[in-house]
Amino acid sequence: MVPMTEASDIVGELWTAAQSAQADGYTMDACGVPSLILMERAALCVSREVAALVCNSPELERVLVLCGPGNNGGDGLAVARQLHGWGIAVAACLATAKRNKTAEAQLELCRIYGVEICEQLPEPAGPEVVIVDGLLGTGSRGAPRGAVAEALRWAEKCVGPKLAIDVPSGVVPDTGYVYEHAFRAGRTVTFKRSKSGLHVTPGRDFAGAVTVATIGLLRPPQQSQPPVRLIEPAFVAAISSREPAAHKGQRGHVGIVGGSAGTPGAAVLAGVAALRAGAGLATICSDDPEVARQLLATRPELMNVQQAVKPGVLAGASVLVVGPGLTSERAQQQLEGLYRDDPRPAVWDASALDFVPAGVADPRVLTPHPGEAARMLTRLSDGSWDSMRVQQNRLDAARQLAALTGAVVVLKGAGTVVAAGDRLWICVSGGPALATAGSGDCLAGLIGALLAAGCSPTDAACAGVHLHGLAGEIAEHARPGAVALDIANCIGQAMRDCDVHPRWPRLVRG
Ligand SMILES: NC(=O)c1ccc[n+]([C@@H]2O[C@H](COP(=O)([O-])OP(=O)(O)OC[C@H]3O[C@@H](n4cnc5c(N)ncnc54)[C@H](OP(=O)(O)O)[C@@H]3O)[C@@H](O)[C@H]2O)c1
Repeated sequence: MVPMTEASDIVGELWTAAQSAQADGYTMDACGVPSLILMERAALCVSREVAALVCNSPELERVLVLCGPGNNGGDGLAVARQLHGWGIAVAACLATAKRNKTAEAQLELCRIYGVEICEQLPEPAGPEVVIVDGLLGTGSRGAPRGAVAEALRWAEKCVGPKLAIDVPSGVVPDTGYVYEHAFRAGRTVTFKRSKSGLHVTPGRDFAGAVTVATIGLLRPPQQSQPPVRLIEPAFVAAISSREPAAHKGQRGHVGIVGGSAGTPGAAVLAGVAALRAGAGLATICSDDPEVARQLLATRPELMNVQQAVKPGVLAGASVLVVGPGLTSERAQQQLEGLYRDDPRPAVWDASALDFVPAGVADPRVLTPHPGEAARMLTRLSDGSWDSMRVQQNRLDAARQLAALTGAVVVLKGAGTVVAAGDRLWICVSGGPALATAGSGDCLAGLIGALLAAGCSPTDAACAGVHLHGLAGEIAEHARPGAVALDIANCIGQAMRDCDVHPRWPRLVRG
């Protein structure tokens, strides 16, 4: 997947804390750019966001900037000085007694310019006060402790708008892991490149909207291409706006292996999603006659055949979606053979994932939720995984599963992660509306349709998760309490309106 423009490349690429520190070191030490200049540029980007907030909201009267012991605290002190210079009522709260040299220099400047300095935390602030978090950035290690933890507990009690500098304190920049009392920002202004932890669950709920500020940091020449990116709405739009083929036979035929007695709905949802996403034909293969009868009663646009599950099943289909509602033991016994010996592009989902073997080269997209991913990882690796471990290491879990299976892995959950080889993408769309029964079946059918339209497994997975998330948002907006069929029915609108998304970061040049 190629970046669309230089600006989207800046916004879409995600750096680790170590890569950010390398860029700091390279820009300052190897290139001789003074730290105070970088800090001034960084702070100006933050100050402009805070000033815009205050100037556009008459009820906001004051800004409190929490300042920690390192360069993040130095940024905070520079923000306080700049806001003071612009005539905005502001105080810098020193959360810690210790500061590094740069932060100490910034404190001295604050004193020279007459900025109000609080050495103690005041009473928790009301709705008229903006809180800026300059406690910890990319240099944070482990759970917030001591005076920093105390400042975070204090911030939790403040009810006004909150903005974080670079990374909300208490959120791990590389993983999105969130410590107790982490700062919950409405906006985070991050520098040079965004960080994965601001976009994966649960970190993304604490980062709020993200602004990426370019401040003149240089990429060290030895730094390899970062392996993590956000899925770009403009890329999805380019895929979605492809000229549809004139004839339904040319638009791909998705075969769904699923739908057992008692669970026919999952296969129906996958089929409807595939058709809504542009597949010309969708046929469900179930070996249960009762399922066929129920299918025809609910969705006349779907076709149904009764065949035994084996390689070559649904011979007319160009792509398979295997697993939605597939609970029949007889069918499950054939799944490993189907996976190994049927070379067609395929999406594997739900209980079928329990039969996926390691290392098959054919084009496969696997769509586990965290519990299914944990089962697969435990079965295929030496480690023992549960869904909590997966959730705490979403990027790593997806990467490991992709390495073990050789497939493209879609790890579902808010901030869905796509892994292909050692490359990772994070989805910006989606939210609580997707947490409804059958939502995953829609995703499987949607990705199946994109494969049938000729997308590579990686592109189909990335575009599919973005469109699915957006369809969920559209469905929920149209009718709160959206269910899976609503999501499937909104896929067409999502394909039309997918070129922008509010969670795609804003770029500012500092
Ligand atoms: N050149 C620049 O001026 C420039 C450029 C880009 C970005 N930045 C800013 O600088 C930040 C990185 O600065 P930094 O490397 O100094 O790191 P930092 O994020 O400011 O944090 C480092 C400081 O926090 C303490 N700390 C770390 N983990 C802690 C925890 N869990 N609880 C309490 N205290 C903790 C450290 O103390 P110990 O050492 O004792 O652990 C150290 O004093 C970025 O996020 C960005 O905001 C500055």
